[in-house]
Amino acid sequence: VRTQVAIIGAGPAGLLLSHLLAKAGIESVVIDSRTRDEIEHTIRAGILEQGTVEILSESGASDRVRTVGNRHEGVELRFAGEGHRIDFEALVGRAVWLFPQHEALKDLIAVRLAEGQDLRFNVTAQRVEGAETDRPRVIATDAEGRPLEIEADFVVGADGSRSVARAAVSGSSTGGYFREYPFAWFGILCEAPPSSDELIYSNSPNGFALISQRSATIQRMYLQCDPDLDPNAMSDRQIWDDLQSRVDGHTLIEGPIFQRDVLRFRSFVAHELLRGRVALIGDAAHTVPPTGAKGMNLAVADVVLLNNALQALLLDDDSRLLEAFPETALKRIWKAQHFSWWMTSMLHVGPDATDFDRLRQVGELRSVVESEAGRRYLAEAYTGWPLEGR
Ligand code: DHB
Repeated sequence: VRTQVAIIGAGPAGLLLSHLLAKAGIESVVIDSRTRDEIEHTIRAGILEQGTVEILSESGASDRVRTVGNRHEGVELRFAGEGHRIDFEALVGRAVWLFPQHEALKDLIAVRLAEGQDLRFNVTAQRVEGAETDRPRVIATDAEGRPLEIEADFVVGADGSRSVARAAVSGSSTGGYFREYPFAWFGILCEAPPSSDELIYSNSPNGFALISQRSATIQRMYLQCDPDLDPNAMSDRQIWDDLQSRVDGHTLIEGPIFQRDVLRFRSFVAHELLRGRVALIGDAAHTVPPTGAKGMNLAVADVVLLNNALQALLLDDDSRLLEAFPETALKRIWKAQHFSWWMTSMLHVGPDATDFDRLRQVGELRSVVESEAGRRYLAEAYTGWPLEGR
């Protein structure tokens, strides 16, 4: 197979890039090792920055983000038995949207297929070759296990945290800056009305909890847990009691729990994002812990930059934006890394936390919510810094 841009990974990054390139008249082939059903039904995060929503809706990738998605103009930070609202609209005149990632993926897949895009599921990339030539290639096997080679002008690794493209860019599949955390999130979906109008990020002596939502009848909630917790080890009663204790002073509406998962988390940035004619975007380039919901939004910011760079390269034979891509992308990536680390460390209770650590943390939270500058920083970061290149 020959194409202009070979994209490994049909997640938000790969699909949106393919969509934006097609609008500029650039052809791509997108492959993913998963089935369409798996991609469309894997539960992921649900918060989109204002800029992400604008790109999805203005580019025609998803109308439902505005019709089905819900605009949230603030969040609550809860600690020491009290809630404190961070009013995004008043602080920065911006908002976020609650629209689950897999819903955005359904829209992106539908649009790509309706436009006759070459989008192949169940195709597994093995490696990328020829990064430093004019004809980089993706070596893969198709759904029937037959070899498939895609030759392109440019290859994009949008293949997630276990990226195979990474080896061709940074010389190893694990090479990067990273940090592990001694806790994870236990996530549930339950059948109940929302327990609150807005999301609640809660710090408590028992650990962190996040009260999120999915719809009028389905809610998503998380509690900090041991990374090795077996999701089936806790009864519904234990989960509700634990959640309730962590949002001390706020009553949760309970309902049947129908899905449980454990999300391990880490911070990671690949040592290199570009080599010759192969680039990494999204989770292949960086992973953030989930607190603050930056993952998909950061992937979209990478896509905006790489889309501009590939248009200049392939339509005008101008490589300057591409050469600048890593440096430009990394500025936002490290800001988002900091924000995600900060939200995580401010709200979670480490297994070795001392009384000093606990009290300092409450002091930190107080210094954020009681200061307009503190609230504004949180609001700016949460709703998303301006997207460069739009
Ligand atoms: C959700 C996930 C997050 O990581 C977050 O910060 C907010 C919401 C969610 O899945 O709803």
